[in-house]
Amino acid sequence: MTEAAAAEPDHLAAIRTSYDTVAADYVRTVVPPTGMDSLSQAMLAAFADLVREPGPGSGSGSGSGRRPAPVADLGCGPGRITAHLAALGVPAFGVDVSGEMVELARRAYPQLRFQRGDMGALDLPDGALGGILAWYSVHHTPPRLLPALFGEFHRVLAPGGHLLLGGHVGDEHLRPTTAYGHPVSYTSHLVPADHLIDLLGRAGFTVTARLELPRPVRPDRPDRGCISLLAHT
Ligand SMILES: C[S@@+](CC[C@H](N)C(=O)[O-])C[C@H]1O[C@@H](n2cnc3c(N)ncnc32)[C@H](O)[C@@H]1O
Repeated sequence: MTEAAAAEPDHLAAIRTSYDTVAADYVRTVVPPTGMDSLSQAMLAAFADLVREPGPGSGSGSGSGRRPAPVADLGCGPGRITAHLAALGVPAFGVDVSGEMVELARRAYPQLRFQRGDMGALDLPDGALGGILAWYSVHHTPPRLLPALFGEFHRVLAPGGHLLLGGHVGDEHLRPTTAYGHPVSYTSHLVPADHLIDLLGRAGFTVTARLELPRPVRPDRPDRGCISLLAHT
């Protein structure tokens, strides 16, 4: 076992091994961005508009020579949303803890950059990014670690940088034994939308838009749904 593997927290090892196992079938099962509901697509499009603007973190120079700062798709999975953002003109790259996911992304989109990494400990200097997309990727992080996770997002965003956070909300901890036809060992921690917004505020974000999509998949759990939140530093 390497030193890095020895230091890997249990929850991260569970995420990594589970998504390594399901990666190929994840791509076959989950709808691509163009198949998403139109409101989620609209949130992605609004985010793309915001981060395409050359912002304060976009480097030196002035006028038309300034380029938008890079945008990280954190927990990018097979890279389809990274590629969707790139097609919208966003200088996007992907980060994922699952090596299999990163390999799939690199093969599908060789023109884009994908790297292995933990979104909670990014190998990036302070203020390096113009935007962060975290799309259905923070719910495996134990709630006690969310303040540090959002603090890390805030650290790597330039002042005025944008965050789009999409994901499941609710009030329960789900421990599925299988997903996408394979055994998995991660936990999905659903926390209430208001709690997420409160944590983002404490980390220094201002939430500017909130889209809630109640999903009628579990009529017995009306509190369970999906949310996307636009915020800036
Ligand atoms: C449900 S998938 C979503 C993938 C992609 N965002 C999409 O919407 O297609 C969740 C992804 O987040 C990644 N992930 C979860 N926690 C992570 C962490 N702490 N650091 C990096 N990646 C993480 C998983 O490996 C997995 O690929």
